[in-house]
Amino acid sequence: MPGTAPALLGDMKPVVSVKELMHDMIDPASDFVFDAVGTIIINNHREEIQPRTDADWDRIRFGAVTMAEGVYLLKIPRPFTPPGDNNNSEGPEAPELSPAQIKAKVDMDPVLWNAKIEALRNVNLEVLELVKKKDIDGLWQAEEDLDQACENCHVEYWYPGEPALLRKLDRRLEELYGKRTSQIGMEPPSSKKEPPKK
Ligand code: HEC
Repeated sequence: MPGTAPALLGDMKPVVSVKELMHDMIDPASDFVFDAVGTIIINNHREEIQPRTDADWDRIRFGAVTMAEGVYLLKIPRPFTPPGDNNNSEGPEAPELSPAQIKAKVDMDPVLWNAKIEALRNVNLEVLELVKKKDIDGLWQAEEDLDQACENCHVEYWYPGEPALLRKLDRRLEELYGKRTSQIGMEPPSSKKEPPKK
């Protein structure tokens, strides 16, 4: 009904920090979408990765639903890191903001924080539509959009540094969540999966 915004049905309390929520929920869920389409090279043969069975489509949906719902947990005030973890934020060329710096930015402009959250949700709503339509071409674009939605928030709040520092971080990100794909030699449909290391 218009005008009667439903209140929450109960209190919501955080269990983990933003960093852990990323590591243990958002990032693993994103693999279901990032790995949905791509090209792998096995013994010099190129093979297209794409959803074929109902189970393949189900996995993409698991990822999109987990991200669309899960990212709203970032609206619950919670620590940015576990106790004692100050990120890689010390020293002159520190690539990451400290949790205190991130918190100050979010407190100063919560509207922007919420916009980044909604942007990630919107990409995943788009993915849910693609799953319904079994639209494989659309998934290629959606992977790019997803990558952008993650990076736009990270560049704002996590590592808003010089390009050189960003490249350093890109490598760290690749280690953090490009692992599975690089093991099987998947080509990058998105920036987070490149460049291949020697
Ligand atoms: C609304 C903002 C926001 C969005 C959207 C977002 N993140 Fe994050 N993410 C953060 C912040 C802030 C941190 C750094 C937390 C800290 O260490 O203080 C972070 C950290 C991470 C980390 C590091 C975790 C660790 O253990 O070091 C990974 C991995 C990550 N995000 C993955 C993702 C992926 C994948 C997506 C997109 C599917 C995404 N994030 C979308 C805000 C966001």
